[in-house]
Amino acid sequence: MAELSKIILGIETSCDETAAAVLKKQGDKIQILSSVVASSAVIQSKYGGIIPEQAAREQIKSIIPVIKEALAQAFTQPPASLLPPPIDAIAVTQGPGLIGSLLVGVETAKTLSLIWQKPLIPVNHLLGHFYANWIDQTSVFGNQLSVLKTNYRQHTTDNQTHASPFNLPVFPLIGLLVSGGHTDLVLFKSHNDFDYLGGTRDDAAGECFDKCARLLGLPYPGGPEISKLAKKGDPNAFSLPHPMLDSNDYDFSYSGLKTAVLNLVTLNPSFMSQGQSLANLCASIQQAIIDPLVKKTLKAAKQFGIKTIILGGGVAANDLLRSQLELYSKRYSPNAEIFVPQKFLCTDNAAMIASRAFFEKPLKSQDLLQASPSLSLSIGLTQNAI
Ligand code: KG4
Ligand code: ZN
Repeated sequence: MAELSKIILGIETSCDETAAAVLKKQGDKIQILSSVVASSAVIQSKYGGIIPEQAAREQIKSIIPVIKEALAQAFTQPPASLLPPPIDAIAVTQGPGLIGSLLVGVETAKTLSLIWQKPLIPVNHLLGHFYANWIDQTSVFGNQLSVLKTNYRQHTTDNQTHASPFNLPVFPLIGLLVSGGHTDLVLFKSHNDFDYLGGTRDDAAGECFDKCARLLGLPYPGGPEISKLAKKGDPNAFSLPHPMLDSNDYDFSYSGLKTAVLNLVTLNPSFMSQGQSLANLCASIQQAIIDPLVKKTLKAAKQFGIKTIILGGGVAANDLLRSQLELYSKRYSPNAEIFVPQKFLCTDNAAMIASRAFFEKPLKSQDLLQASPSLSLSIGLTQNAI
């Protein structure tokens, strides 16, 4: 007998993106029915980084229009006003993130769950990033994605075709999460049995991209800017520290690299911020950030005899990280398989939150949910697991 399908509305508000998505799961196949993201990154970029209170205010403005739009796109006949939409549950990011931003999503989800009498599923944002890899990405082309306001950052699908059928990641696997706030390596034995292997001791990989970009006078978020300029530069032009490249663990450290860039720029500000020198410096920074990620991920794969690697988080959108992992993993094992979500599913979105929710249990009561700004991958994750 065919498995019944299940539909989940996901809500994500951990930082400066307000997102809602409707996903359907039938058997193993998880499909996006709609995914809407409004980002205040353009507003934040004026200040060179995120101002938490402002991000929260933008969340409040966007949350209802974004949810309405996601429901309108998912269902040809959206229900009238207060009537519940044809969904089976509401999933929401519980943490980690900025408390003001998280509260907007959590309290909205609790309220909708109460009014519509739909189960509520809290999701760890970090796990959510990994679960972008379980979404059938052959189905996300076309117009299912949208941004709400024209002055907001545009999310686009990758310019690649998916002629081959969609494969699901196979356990056991190594997960590398690289975002603006996190750099974590995780060994997954199953959906709900995983070991935290290591992570950054100071700045995250994305944070390092962002802070170096700021030192070079480039706009926020810095990762895409540095990687664009790096394409024209020589990664060996500057000798920068490759933090913890050879340390005997699975940890990372990026604050020293940021200081090295600060020293270079302070010594020679005009020279460093233009033309070929800027491109060379960007290429050198990018290489110094990527090398430890590739080396430690493959070291973990070898140590645990694992052939499947999944990436998640905004920095997974980086072309050099993708291509170097692909290249070096094939040298380690010709059967190695790397899963990288399409770029719009690497940065914050609600589709990944709904996707993870298919593997979690709903809460018994809405009152049990509290926003948790410092939720981690190493503790307290599996209490809702199926
Ligand atoms: O996952 P995400 O959207 O938000 C967090 O949860 O942090 O990640 C945002 C981070 C930013 O630091 C941004 O600079 C970085 O992802 N990023 C990139 C690229 N695209 C986004 N870093 C390097 N290369 C990229 N192409
Ligand atoms: Zn994120």
